[in-house]
Amino acid sequence: MKLNLTNLLYALSDALDMVESDMIGVQSSHGKHVAYLSYLMRKRLGLVDSELEDFTGCALLHDNAFSEYASEEFYGGSAVDTRELRRRVELLNENDYIDFISGSTHSIAGEENIRLLPFSTDIRNIILHHHENADGTGPMGRMSYETNFKSQIVHLADTIDVTTNIMTISEKEFNRMRYFIHKKGGTFFSRKSADLFLDTVTYDDILYLQEYSAEVILRRHMPSKEKNYSDEQIKNIAAFFARIVDCKSSFVRNHSLGVAEKAERMSRYYGFSSDKCIRMYLAGALHDIGKLIIENDILEKPDKLTENEFARVKNHAYATYQVLHKAEGLSDITEWASNHHEKLNGSGYPLGLTADKLNFESRIMTCSDIYQALTETRPYKNAMTHGQAIDVMRDMVRKNEIDGQIVEDMNKIL
Ligand SMILES: [Fe+2]
Ligand SMILES: [Fe+2]
Ligand SMILES: [Fe+2]
Repeated sequence: MKLNLTNLLYALSDALDMVESDMIGVQSSHGKHVAYLSYLMRKRLGLVDSELEDFTGCALLHDNAFSEYASEEFYGGSAVDTRELRRRVELLNENDYIDFISGSTHSIAGEENIRLLPFSTDIRNIILHHHENADGTGPMGRMSYETNFKSQIVHLADTIDVTTNIMTISEKEFNRMRYFIHKKGGTFFSRKSADLFLDTVTYDDILYLQEYSAEVILRRHMPSKEKNYSDEQIKNIAAFFARIVDCKSSFVRNHSLGVAEKAERMSRYYGFSSDKCIRMYLAGALHDIGKLIIENDILEKPDKLTENEFARVKNHAYATYQVLHKAEGLSDITEWASNHHEKLNGSGYPLGLTADKLNFESRIMTCSDIYQALTETRPYKNAMTHGQAIDVMRDMVRKNEIDGQIVEDMNKIL
């Protein structure tokens, strides 16, 4: 399948930034700022184009496992109550705050996730070591000679963006920051990365960022291309996104890939082209990506939701559209994925579309999502058997909510 992966990664990075600012109040565009600063510091690395592209991708997504990590840190892996988390973070003093956001869990999980992406150059340990300090005082106790230079660059760029407001920083503050980096070279930052920053990044680069935004500049200097990926590579890309989405919530661990598999199986049954089958798989993996931008305390609230909160939850399907529509070449996938809560009789959301606006692929996606949700275990309910799930779905067919033919075919095929 042809895909412009970089575009999809930018879209994801927007959604991830929202998670991070929602959880711990860091400024938005964090991933892109770190990518831009890393890009500026690349100069003495002598990277060829593909290496530079992969390195910037890692910098952009260095915190890809952040939501999983935050739940681990404070809640032993269970649901994150965002409001509570933010309250606790606000109580931390500056050192504890730095410790908190630089734990090792999200570095390990983030490294594991990123390796699913089909990079063509060596990106090993860039994310794994992005919080290691040169003197071995980081979460994994690695000294600077035990980490690679690229991870040291991301560490420095990350620290800058977390400790300063780069979008408003004045020249005086910038110079103060240079002094801080100089002083911390050899202990917190590696001497080499500190020197590289001091030699290569100027206040003009920061003004340029403040004027144009990181994404505009990165796209200008590193145009992204569509590439052809094998089915296996697409499934790995799908798994990367699915993990990030499903890890945000403690009780839907395998939901997205479950939907992907069902949608693909039904597509094969209907004799879709193999390209379309794999696109359906990817759409299934991405259908809930909009959940990344809904607060966890609402998504996982055990009690009845208020009207307002329910409106927020409903909004996740529209948010899926918002995240995906920016990635060009994916308009079909965006449509199937973001229609997964629409109903044939117009009672669904977010748009209340009716049967004439819902194509067969969107209907398959809806049925796959419902079937998957019914047959998986959640804290408040046991998994239904196949037969029970089909019964519930037949009931929905009677109300003209979902497609009866697809439900009967699912009964046979799944
Ligand atoms: Fe991090
Ligand atoms: Fe970060
Ligand atoms: Fe879903």
